[in-house]
Amino acid sequence: MERELTVTEVEKGNLAEQLPPINRISDSKLRDLVLEVWATLLRESAYHDINEAPNFTSELMGDDDETLVRHTNTVVKMSEAVAREFQQAYGINLNHDTLLAGAILHDVDKLLLYGRQGDSVELTELGRKVSHGEYGALVAEQAGLPQEVVNIIASHSPTQRKTLPASIEAVIVGCCDEATFQSYRLMTGKGLWMKP
Ligand SMILES: [Fe+2]
Repeated sequence: MERELTVTEVEKGNLAEQLPPINRISDSKLRDLVLEVWATLLRESAYHDINEAPNFTSELMGDDDETLVRHTNTVVKMSEAVAREFQQAYGINLNHDTLLAGAILHDVDKLLLYGRQGDSVELTELGRKVSHGEYGALVAEQAGLPQEVVNIIASHSPTQRKTLPASIEAVIVGCCDEATFQSYRLMTGKGLWMKP
């Protein structure tokens, strides 16, 4: 049985404004499920405004803060660009809706796993208990997102995942996320991040 969605039209409008690639998901049911997950976790989070949500813990990035919204939009657009080039090079068709939904949701669990404490960003109590990516994948699965999208979320973090990428779309999102993270570190003078 399909679950009834809780996301309101106002929430949909606000989310689509901050995360415009949502509008490019052509399947309206998939688009609503993506909106449902973002709206649900935002409601449960400590943030009144989605732009308050941080993307990195201070352990990873020090004082150089980045918003979850800008990071997500960057990873989505990079993933679309890489997918477009790969499709052209090899004459294949990737699933654009799956790629978009997975990229838009890949870090959504950070709304609950990372929290601001004064000037620093730390793991929340929940963030210390669960794995980033795996937790978002669980929420997405419970909301009814397709397995291909759930896999992109679960497999995107090379250091946190217990699940490997199962599709080209998942490989592309994971690589673009890593490229964004490491490039952001180099851009802000941090040097390449290596797992301690
Ligand atoms: Fe990310």
